[in-house]
Amino acid sequence: MITTQEITQIREQVRAWHAKGETVAFVPTMGNLHLGHITLIKEAVKRADHVVASIFVNPMQFGQNEDLDAYPKTLVADQLALTDAGAELLFTPTPKIIYPKGMEQQTYVEVPKIGDELCGVSRPGHFRGVATIVCKLFNIVQPDVALFGKKDFQQLLIIKTMVEDLSMPIEIIGVETIREESGLAMSSRNGYLNQSQKVRAATLKQVMDTMSAEIQSGQAIVDVIAKALAKLIEAGFKPDYLEVRSSTDLSPVSAEQQALVIVAAAYMGTTRLIDNLCFER
Ligand code: PAF
Repeated sequence: MITTQEITQIREQVRAWHAKGETVAFVPTMGNLHLGHITLIKEAVKRADHVVASIFVNPMQFGQNEDLDAYPKTLVADQLALTDAGAELLFTPTPKIIYPKGMEQQTYVEVPKIGDELCGVSRPGHFRGVATIVCKLFNIVQPDVALFGKKDFQQLLIIKTMVEDLSMPIEIIGVETIREESGLAMSSRNGYLNQSQKVRAATLKQVMDTMSAEIQSGQAIVDVIAKALAKLIEAGFKPDYLEVRSSTDLSPVSAEQQALVIVAAAYMGTTRLIDNLCFER
């Protein structure tokens, strides 16, 4: 696998592949890779002739009270895992390469409505940072296909919306969440949890499973959410939000809507975890 910080090298390589009629899949990451990321790369290998990955801890998507500098950097281990999984090209730009004029003077992308809710409320500016960097990376890499984990469900829908709204010729594929045996969704943030917190954090998936069963059996959504919040608090969580929404656009649930998603964000200690569960009513 070739690792480069050079935008021109990425462009030349992808152009050469495209000139031969070969397709390119792209997996953007912030590094500190776990099995969830590696599953994205393996899925990308199945979807295209070549796989490009990126590692960039994007300062624009971090809030002022979120510790950007503490984000774990594990480049050598990440390179080995990416090579093993089948990536051929890795883009590792610096903030100076991505935001040469600084972030204040950077043109940005904002996806309205869907980007303003849920995590958009708790993390103001976060989705602007995500949409802007993903748009920039798409323009640099010019992939045919890009893959994102369904664990970041709101992010996935925002990127799909951006691609559609801005007529980008890229297929966006959502890949199923990879979980620990306990049910805890894999996330770089799990590394901040101690053993006891990790055990208690697994309650989130159990609570969502119960919610989905109760809603499917006809129980009122407000009652189901109230019971679930109590269980999360009992397990030591400090819930940020726990809601049931339409899984197509995250709009509030109407009586006739069948495709639903439970979306959750909750603090275990100081670590903010998110998860979701899609189901049919
Ligand atoms: O999901 C992530 O790791 C990041 O939000 C992404 C998509 C790589 C953009 O920085």
